Amino acid sequence: MREHVLLIGGGGREHAIARSLADSEAELYACAGNKNPGIARLASAFETLETTDPEAVLEYAESVEATIAVVGPEAPLEAGVADALENAGVYAFGPNQDEARIETDKAFQRRFMRENDITGCPDFETFEDGEAACDYIDEYDGDLVIKPAGLTGGKGVKVIGDQVTPEEGKAYIRDSDYDRLVLEERLIGEEFTVQAFVANGDVRTAPAVQDHKRAYEGDEGPNTGGMGSYSDASRELPFMTAAEYEAAVDIIEETVEALEGYKGILYGQFMLTADGPKVIEFNARFGDPEAMNTLPVLETPFLEVLTAARDRDPLPELAFTNQATVCKYAVPEGYPTDPEAGAKVRVDEESAGDALLYYASVDERADGIYTTTSRSFAVVGLADTIAAAEEIAEDALGVAGDEGLHMRHDIGKADLVQRRIDHMDELHGQ
Ligand code: AMP
Ligand code: GLY
Repeated sequence: MREHVLLIGGGGREHAIARSLADSEAELYACAGNKNPGIARLASAFETLETTDPEAVLEYAESVEATIAVVGPEAPLEAGVADALENAGVYAFGPNQDEARIETDKAFQRRFMRENDITGCPDFETFEDGEAACDYIDEYDGDLVIKPAGLTGGKGVKVIGDQVTPEEGKAYIRDSDYDRLVLEERLIGEEFTVQAFVANGDVRTAPAVQDHKRAYEGDEGPNTGGMGSYSDASRELPFMTAAEYEAAVDIIEETVEALEGYKGILYGQFMLTADGPKVIEFNARFGDPEAMNTLPVLETPFLEVLTAARDRDPLPELAFTNQATVCKYAVPEGYPTDPEAGAKVRVDEESAGDALLYYASVDERADGIYTTTSRSFAVVGLADTIAAAEEIAEDALGVAGDEGLHMRHDIGKADLVQRRIDHMDELHGQ
């Protein structure tokens, strides 16, 4: 029988997953809260449902006779969607609720690293009392990062010495109603992502990617879910050595070993410091945008990884095309603080040229495609160099005209990449 793969989630990451499965033998089904037009076109059927409702997802999975499920976002993992599917005999590529705490509970994540003596854990303390956290800020020698322990879509973290002063940091703690916090050492360096395909004790890593969290050009403005990202034709990025990339891979391998039985994607977010890579966080899923850098260059069919994982076989070694990639997101005006949802987006797909176009959190209705409060669509260029991939992506950004959407044109451009290299050179020289 053909595999029936159910994809859960309706963002750009999931459109990339859908495309990586569309060419395979599998029959693809999809469900999400928004109707993503790109996924809907690739799937045999698309159901709009609440993906954090395990019963609703399970009911749909059973109705399409799913044999494998791929969980895209973190919220369904946190809600126990993988557990519900597995209890009903549907293999879920994604961790169960308890294992997903490596992402969904940052206090758990840091304690887990400490207890298992995993390399690259910054100095940290966890708090359940805001005033105790404020006292710690007063006493600590150095800058701290304030992190709510639960999920905030990448938008709840405040970095003292960068985004806020210590006084503003304390006011943030007092004004918010987070009941659990992590305060940790501020790491200085360049951020990068390494995603690993994990199952049956095997770990298969993808090339490093650099995301851009800040909303505006030049890394200004509030943190977002990610405005765009690039990867190089080799596994490492221009500002790191092959040995530094391997050090990050080693940390992921140590973590998987300590997690015992983890399955799905383990995403390591690292800060490359003068002392090598340190862990900013782990995620229990592909990155968004990073999946759009990684899956288009993955030559090994993703379906082969999924079936091996399900059948308890060794995971295949992964082959990548050795191309550089640049991904740029178009987001609603005002995103992330005051996004304009419900605006009509007209996308002229023909004018994407050589770029890949991925729909994200837009909603397709009878009379057109509308923005939601999250990112709208992304374009991805693939080429031999980052510079050439950037040009392809940039040329395609006009597909929706330039009204009502915002994007960062600087992502992947030579001067921004050079600034990363100079930054690391400067840190190594100190
Ligand atoms: P997170 O939600 O953990 O990904 O954090 C969001 C952003 O905050 C990261 O992408 C970093 O830019 C920043 N950040 C988080 N932890 C640290 C840290 N320990 N040192 C410096 N920056 C950090
Ligand atoms: N790109 C950041 C994330 O997916 O969390």
